[in-house]
Amino acid sequence: MGVPSHGSSGLSSIWTPRSFLLLLLGTSLVTPSVYQPVLDSLYASLRQSSLFTASTFETWWTVIIYAIIEVTYTYRFARNPQLRLANHANHGTASPKPIPKMRRPKHRMVEGLTYISPLLLLDLTLIKKYAGVPVQDMVLSGNYHLSSVTKTIHGTFLAPTLHNFTLSSPLQTRRAVPTAPPTSRELVLQLVTSLFIYDTLFFAFHLSLHHPKFASIHSQHHNHREINPQITNQLDIFERLGLVLLANFSLNIIGSHVLTRTIFVLIFVWLLVDIHSGMDLKWGYDKILPPGWASGSKRHSIHHRVGNRYYAPFFNWWDDMHEWICKRRVDRGGLAVASEST
Ligand SMILES: *[C@@H]1O[C@H](CO)[C@@H](O)[C@H](O)[C@H]1NC(C)=O
Ligand SMILES: [Zn+2]
Repeated sequence: MGVPSHGSSGLSSIWTPRSFLLLLLGTSLVTPSVYQPVLDSLYASLRQSSLFTASTFETWWTVIIYAIIEVTYTYRFARNPQLRLANHANHGTASPKPIPKMRRPKHRMVEGLTYISPLLLLDLTLIKKYAGVPVQDMVLSGNYHLSSVTKTIHGTFLAPTLHNFTLSSPLQTRRAVPTAPPTSRELVLQLVTSLFIYDTLFFAFHLSLHHPKFASIHSQHHNHREINPQITNQLDIFERLGLVLLANFSLNIIGSHVLTRTIFVLIFVWLLVDIHSGMDLKWGYDKILPPGWASGSKRHSIHHRVGNRYYAPFFNWWDDMHEWICKRRVDRGGLAVASEST
């Protein structure tokens, strides 16, 4: 009451989500037993659900989560000109720019279908091979007989196996999942590691997409006047598939649990929409993380504007290194020119 704020409210309020996150991560890592009962019962009910054990679950899950998060961001974007980075550029002197042309949710069926179809094709033809699932369960889910093929079907995700198509089982509709949930420690470590691996892989993929050879693929994602949440999924099929497969690989290579994958989708989609938000949001993830760690909407909107800097999606490390290398190259070049001329 009556305490002067001295403009420090911005500083103190970011500590709300920050402390919450720290507490959640810290306790998940240090005292997993606290979370085990919750994870046990959550996972037990998921495993009972035929939605969760459908081979197409992750495809639907991703679409639903994307729809919820992106529409929420788009709504904020359209209603809050003062939050838009494009209006910050003119220091509030000019009148706000007109809202870029947005697509309405009901007109986005085609976008949804082009996302879903290639993934559904994979879902309905390949056996799902998740870490922690006995090979026998995978084999049975793929309509094979245990006796005949166990030896020729490998449990690793690196060796894909087609469904055994028959009249009574024309498609791969189920997925075998582990019997036990992960601990909260495993969950958090897998989430953090897979996000870091993805950030690294996508940095490299993105850098190569900016090679003139692939310009026609990636130009679709840069084809806009002002960056806005809908640009997140404005992607060529090839690029979108690359993005999904890299995320899948990042999860698979460390043997992530199926529950980790389910939660990964929530975080991953949120981060992707956040960096494309085109807004300076109070609780952007880059502000919640320690300063300098994350790219956030500001860096990524610079990337969309200039196209030759800041390729990493979520974090700053690779870009900072890339900038450093480029700068050295320029400096060296400058030196070489200088020594030649003397
Ligand atoms: C993702 O990885 C799983 C597990 O290995 C695999 O079964 C599935 O087909 C992959 N999904 C996509 C879309 O690549
Ligand atoms: Zn982008």
